[in-house]
Amino acid sequence: MKIALASDHGAFELKESIKKHLEEKGIAYEDFGCYSKESVDYPRFAYIAAKAVADGTCDYGVICCTTGLGVSMAANKVKGIRAAVCTNEMLAEMTRRHNNANVLCMGQNVVSFELANTLVDIFLATPFEGGRHQRRVDLLTDIENGAAL
Ligand code: RB5
Repeated sequence: MKIALASDHGAFELKESIKKHLEEKGIAYEDFGCYSKESVDYPRFAYIAAKAVADGTCDYGVICCTTGLGVSMAANKVKGIRAAVCTNEMLAEMTRRHNNANVLCMGQNVVSFELANTLVDIFLATPFEGGRHQRRVDLLTDIENGAAL
């Protein structure tokens, strides 16, 4: 398993903390930036990490900004991406079980570093349930492809 990591300046420290956590767990990752606390534009970093998930280079993405909101909007514009902002354990679990989310978004000003690590663990460990949820996820893909539902 390989994780695409990215953040803007507003979550640079959170990304670094998540990197350390993944290293401790022996989980491979690629860090798509940013690489300092210098101000940058979050869509660029969310995009490049989301693309790595969409093209199969990475299995999942963990993308952070100050709130988690901007990066989720950017990531969700990449075809094949289902990005979810998670702020608690239930959301991290349910977005895998029901939405087959492939990108976890978090905000450095929203979750503690400790909670973020827990959400990463839950997100990566929880399987998609499939069944009726597959039909709904397929409908998301239909919307992405311009279908009228
Ligand atoms: C950057 O100031 C901030 O807007 C960004 O980190 C993010 O929270 C946007 O949604």
